[in-house]
Amino acid sequence: MKMQMNDYIKLVDEKLDEFMPIQYPDDIFKAMKYTVTLQGKRLRPVMCLETCRMFGGNFEDAIPTACAIEMLHAQTLIHDDLPCMDNDDYRRGKLTNHKVFGEANAVLAGDALLTFAPQLIVKNSKKLGAEKLINILEEYFHAAGAFGVIAGQVIDIESERATSKIPDPEKTLEYIHTHKTADLFKLALRSGAIIADATEKELEEITEFGQCMGVAFQIADDILDETSTFDEMGKTMGKDKDAGKLTYTSLYGLEKSKKDLNEKLDKCLDILHKNNLKSEVFEQILEKIRIK
Ligand code: IPE
Ligand code: IPE
Ligand code: MG
Ligand code: MG
Ligand code: MG
Repeated sequence: MKMQMNDYIKLVDEKLDEFMPIQYPDDIFKAMKYTVTLQGKRLRPVMCLETCRMFGGNFEDAIPTACAIEMLHAQTLIHDDLPCMDNDDYRRGKLTNHKVFGEANAVLAGDALLTFAPQLIVKNSKKLGAEKLINILEEYFHAAGAFGVIAGQVIDIESERATSKIPDPEKTLEYIHTHKTADLFKLALRSGAIIADATEKELEEITEFGQCMGVAFQIADDILDETSTFDEMGKTMGKDKDAGKLTYTSLYGLEKSKKDLNEKLDKCLDILHKNNLKSEVFEQILEKIRIK
């Protein structure tokens, strides 16, 4: 069966529900499941499954890893929204985790997801064999920790209201976007490729694609924070400017941001085409990110 975007999303939604039964202590499992199962775009798990298929693997082998990556993503969202971070009240169209469950349980739910996700991979992917499992986990820990998302988040927070004092803002912004955002996309793509037994060369190709696509995605998010609405995005808009964040639009202005975004998306397409990576799903995702 040829999987379309919506087929993957439906599958991921079903599996996320299945992988997260509410158990004792209920309060923590409820808080974990709340943000994970709210309606997100599911880009990372879909890209993990599609990469596995694209490199000749069985995408079903990647389901636990794809779901784990969505759980890790939800963890980053829960913590990103906390009052000590971006202080947001809405996420995915609903109240943020800490608004519903309180700050203590939101912190704990994030911590719990961070560890629940790799446990889920280990428990449900034994058939992949020890070597692949170790490789996937190495990718997971790299992206989730102080070399990955956390590196991006800490520099994002440090740069708030300090834009004028940053010695090399262009490089710093590239660092923030690479780590807080592209690293999770690269994790999704690389782990899907590993499951499909991709070659080193294919891993390099998909990593180059993930870097380009991830940064483009964050540029789009920075633009939309200025131009979009709560109804479209499910989160409060205009917050980056209020917080004095270093974003693509604060550094380069709206017009150049849109131009650079669309150029980057063209570059992503070029990376796919020059390497003969055939995926309608990836092309659809790139077109969705494009801003006219
Ligand atoms: C939000 O990611 C965080 C950013 C990297 C900008 P998404 O826009 O993919 O969020 P969901 O998963 O659809 O809610
Ligand atoms: C997203 O950055 C990076 C994460 C690790 C969540 P943002 O702070 O811009 O994401 P949104 O706009 O809150 O979704
Ligand atoms: Mg943030
Ligand atoms: Mg935020
Ligand atoms: Mg944002």
